[in-house]
Amino acid sequence: MSLKIFGGKSSTPDSVSNNIKLAIATSVFHPNLKFVIDIEGSGNILLQDTKTGFEIFEPNAIVKYLSATSKNGSNDVFKKTPQELKLWDFLNSKSNNLANLPLEFSKADAQSVAQIFTFGTVYPVFSKLTPEQQQSTPLYPWFKEFSQIPAVAKAIKDATSHIKIERVKEKNTGESHVAKGVALEKLDPSVKIAPKADERNILITSALPYVNNVPHLGNIVGSVLSADIYSRYCKQRGYNTLFVCGTDEYGTATETKALEEKVTPRQLCDKYNKIHKEVYDWFQIGFDHFGRTTTEKQTEIAQDIFMKLHKNGYLEEQVMKQLYCPVHNGYLADRYVEGECPKCHYEDARGDQCDKCGGLLDPFELINPRCKLDNATPEPRNSKHVFISLDKLEPKLREWVEKASTEGKWSKNSKTITNSWLREGLKPRCITRDLKWGTPVPLEGFTDKVLYVWFDAPIGYISITANYTDDWEAWWKNPEQVQLYQFMGKDNVPFHTVVFPSSEIGTGDNWTLLHHLNTTEYLQYEGGKFSKSRGVGVFGNNAKETGVSPSVWRYYLASIRPESQDAQFSWLD
Ligand code: 2FM
Ligand code: ZN
Repeated sequence: MSLKIFGGKSSTPDSVSNNIKLAIATSVFHPNLKFVIDIEGSGNILLQDTKTGFEIFEPNAIVKYLSATSKNGSNDVFKKTPQELKLWDFLNSKSNNLANLPLEFSKADAQSVAQIFTFGTVYPVFSKLTPEQQQSTPLYPWFKEFSQIPAVAKAIKDATSHIKIERVKEKNTGESHVAKGVALEKLDPSVKIAPKADERNILITSALPYVNNVPHLGNIVGSVLSADIYSRYCKQRGYNTLFVCGTDEYGTATETKALEEKVTPRQLCDKYNKIHKEVYDWFQIGFDHFGRTTTEKQTEIAQDIFMKLHKNGYLEEQVMKQLYCPVHNGYLADRYVEGECPKCHYEDARGDQCDKCGGLLDPFELINPRCKLDNATPEPRNSKHVFISLDKLEPKLREWVEKASTEGKWSKNSKTITNSWLREGLKPRCITRDLKWGTPVPLEGFTDKVLYVWFDAPIGYISITANYTDDWEAWWKNPEQVQLYQFMGKDNVPFHTVVFPSSEIGTGDNWTLLHHLNTTEYLQYEGGKFSKSRGVGVFGNNAKETGVSPSVWRYYLASIRPESQDAQFSWLD
C-alpha cells in the first residue's frame, strides 16, 4: 500500500475535530505516513492509495480504514467494538449532548477507534474551556491521559500546523495551479518525470497531428484537448503522470506539400511544427513534452522494432504494382493519381475514392489517369516491398485485445472497429514505401525505401518520450507499473489497436501496451466538414484571432465533444 492522507483546511470546530481524529489515527496506525494539510489546494479531507487510486473522504471511515490496515489491524473495516457500538448509538440518538456521553474509559487507549472518535469530537469543546471547567467534567481524567500518549501528542501538533504545498506556475498564463496535487515535490523542469514504484503511473498520449496542416478545432477536441483534460485531472489527483505528443512528419503528404510550397520537407516540418506548438500553447495544452517524429531516436527505435520483427519471422516480401510518374520521378500514392471515375465518369476522381459518387477506387481503374502534380501519364511499375505478417500475429493480438479492451474500458466504437478488423481476419500489410521522406528501411535490398508512415507514426510516441528522457524504457517497457491512456479520433483506431500492438508484440519485448483507449467521433463545422483546402472551418490560429479567451474555447469544445456521435460547431452557440 502507498497511502497519502490529507486533512481539511477549514478551521471550523467540525474540521478541527476531523483533523484531530485523522492525525491520531495516522500517527498510531501508520506511523510512517505523513499527515498533510494543503492550505492552498482544495483543502479537502482525503485518503488515497496512490498505487490503485482507491480513495475515501469520509473522516470516520478513514480512521476505520487506517486501523483495519495497520500492522495489527483486523483488516475488517466494518467490524465495530462494543465501545464503538455504544458511541454510534449515542451519536445517532437525539440527545447527543456531550454531557450525556455514556462512555467511561477506564484506560486511555489510542489503539481504540472509539476513543479516537470521542477524543476528536470533544477536542474543540475542551480546548475552549478554562482548566477549572475542564477539570469539572467527568471525561477529564481520561481526556488528559489520552492527550499525553506520545503518538497523540504528536498528532495534535500535526493536526494544528498547516503545511504549504509547493506549486508551479503555468507557463502560458502565469496562473498558479497544482501540477502535482500532492506531496512536497519540487517541479523543476530539468527533473524528468519517471514512473515510481509505489504510485499509479499514467502515460498519456494524444494522436500525433499531421505536420502539414494547421490543426482545426476537430483535431483539437478529438485528441490534444481531451488528453489534456485527462492529464490535468490525473495530476490534480496526484497520479504520477506523463503526457506526450508531437507532430507526425513523415510521408507523402509532407513531400507533396513541400513541393507545393517550394521548400524542402525539413523546412516544411520546421515551419509547421512551430505553428502546431503555438496553437497548442495558446489553447493551454499542458504537454510534458511536445516533440516530432523526424528525429534520430525515431530512426533508432523504429529500425530496432523493424529488425526484431524480421528476426522473429514476422516480415515477408511481396511485389507490388504501383503507378510511377516519369516526370517528377516518384511513385504516386493513391490519392495523387486523378482521372475519370470508371463508375460515374466524373472527370476529377482521385485514385482512392471518387468525390462525386463516393465509390472506393483502385488507382489502376481510373480512365486516363494523370499525376496530380504535373498531369503526366503515370506508368505501372513493379516494386518489391516488406509486409508485416499480421496473420501470424493474429492469435496473440486477439488474446491481448480481449483482455486489454475489457480491463482498459475501451470506448464502444473502438471495440466495434477493432472487432470488425478481427472478424475479417488479419492479412499481411505493406509497411514500406517508395519515398525519400521517411525512416530508412534497414534491410538489405530495401535501403532505398522508407517505412510506411502508419507503421512509423505510433513509434513516434516512444521516440518523443526518448527525446524527453533517457529513461524512456521505464515508461514504455514497464507494463507492470505503467498504464497507457491514448486519445484520438475514431479514424485512428485500427492503427492503435491492431497494427501498432501487433508490431510491438512481434518484437518479443515487454512493451507497455495500450490500456485505455479514448476516441471521438467527428466535429462538423456548421453542419458540414472542416476542410483546410476549401477554407471551411475554424483553425487553431483563427480561434486566437477571435479575441475570445482560450478558457472559453476549451470549455465550449469540451462541452460539445463528439463523445458518441458527431457533434456540431456553431458560431451561434
Ligand atoms: O490522423 C492523424 O492525424 C495521424 N497523424 C495520427 C497519428 S497518431 C500516431 F500514430 F502517431
Ligand atoms: Zn507527376
